[in-house]
Amino acid sequence: MNEQKITPTILTALTNIVGNANIYTDHQKCTEYGKDKTEDLVFLPEIVLIPETVEAISQIMRLCNEHRIPVTPRGAGTGLAGGALPVCGGVVLSMERFDNIVAIDERNLQVTTEPAVITEVLQNAVQEKGLYYPPDPASRGSSFIGGNIATNAGGPRAVKYGVVKDYVLNIEVVLPNGEIIWTGANTLKNSTGYNLTQLMVGSEGTLGIITKAVLKLVPYPSHSLLLLVPFSSSLKACAAVSAIFRAGIVPSSMEFMERRAIDIALNYVQDVDLPIAEQVQAHLIIEVDGNNLEPLYDDCERIHQVLEQFDCDDILFADDTNTKSNLWKLRRNLNQAVKLYSAVKKADTVVPRADLPELLEGIHNIGQQYGINSVSYGHAGDGNLHVTLLKENLSDAYWAENMPPAMRKIFELVSQLQGTISGEHGIGWTQKEYLDLVFNPAEIALMKGIKQVFDPNNILNPRKIFD
Ligand code: MLT
Ligand code: ZN
Repeated sequence: MNEQKITPTILTALTNIVGNANIYTDHQKCTEYGKDKTEDLVFLPEIVLIPETVEAISQIMRLCNEHRIPVTPRGAGTGLAGGALPVCGGVVLSMERFDNIVAIDERNLQVTTEPAVITEVLQNAVQEKGLYYPPDPASRGSSFIGGNIATNAGGPRAVKYGVVKDYVLNIEVVLPNGEIIWTGANTLKNSTGYNLTQLMVGSEGTLGIITKAVLKLVPYPSHSLLLLVPFSSSLKACAAVSAIFRAGIVPSSMEFMERRAIDIALNYVQDVDLPIAEQVQAHLIIEVDGNNLEPLYDDCERIHQVLEQFDCDDILFADDTNTKSNLWKLRRNLNQAVKLYSAVKKADTVVPRADLPELLEGIHNIGQQYGINSVSYGHAGDGNLHVTLLKENLSDAYWAENMPPAMRKIFELVSQLQGTISGEHGIGWTQKEYLDLVFNPAEIALMKGIKQVFDPNNILNPRKIFD
């Protein structure tokens, strides 16, 4: 692309749009806004803009489009695939000022929100009205709704309630040329033309800038029960997952954690004590929820019966708030804990649920072949395993030579299993080299054509998803 420096004249024009207080050019701030939670990657933007109105964003886009200046939209910077990294320099457009919940519509079970509302803040606000916004990525305490929409985030409860796309009804978007559009209608059904709303969901800030969203809500389930199930074989733990669904039960969460993951998490989350027997190789966290307790106890009983065929150890049954929140704390802190333990390369693999054992076995074999340890955990009920290759004490040279082919082999296996390379984190910057494993040239050409229609000058989050 034809990148252009931000000249003093352009800088003045941008300053006039956002005001002096809402622009950073200093090295420290540019570094801060030049990274997200992806590995230890940093790309310096030329400037950071923090607009306060949709009109200001529109004017910024018009100006940047005219001068071919790359713009990278940014939410909370919690992404794991580098979607918010300003890899071409230019402008980082931080959405942090758009942090209002505009309206909770209790009549229609909907919420209209700005994109920089923290996911958990939105969940708590609607819960006060007896309503539920289920998508709950592990980062929900810090990630923004806008970023969740941009990556089509999921989380543990997606297995029963669906992912972000299932809750987005309508989005206000500023296009790369500065035009402001709404993508759909505030309705539960919509067969009117192409589905621009769903096109925007998961587009990782490459097609437009999300400035408002109307989200569907559901009634808040009043009860939940949690089981922590230890297994002496991680493959059997994976096999148990699909058996539970085949028995007619739909848990509200079905999370898998390898032994190494739990050990790392216990080391990181100091205030949770969980004795684990030596032979345990993996755990499932299984949650059921609903409005009446009796059927939930029945579900747990039936789950127990299914699990007996998979050699599980004694199940920890959690029905009190404290145990439940401790278990979730362990699970939700895994990403941070693993990152602190070692340099890593992460993957967000997803396969049809019943093929999880084959995926995990393949990951172990590939790790052995390349001499790299891994730790896997994730949303097993969705067939979504977060695989993390661990550098530990391998030399830089060994890691540089062996990690990339090992990762590619894992993705080749995913593709053979009719799965895909990202279930919820997106492709962003770090996964795009693997896109050819799951899309053929004709399919990638279609996507590039869509990008071209929205952003002919390739200024919005350039070089993400594909080059
Ligand atoms: C999770 O499920 O914990 C998040 O998606 C982050 C991760 O990959 O660890
Ligand atoms: Zn996850």
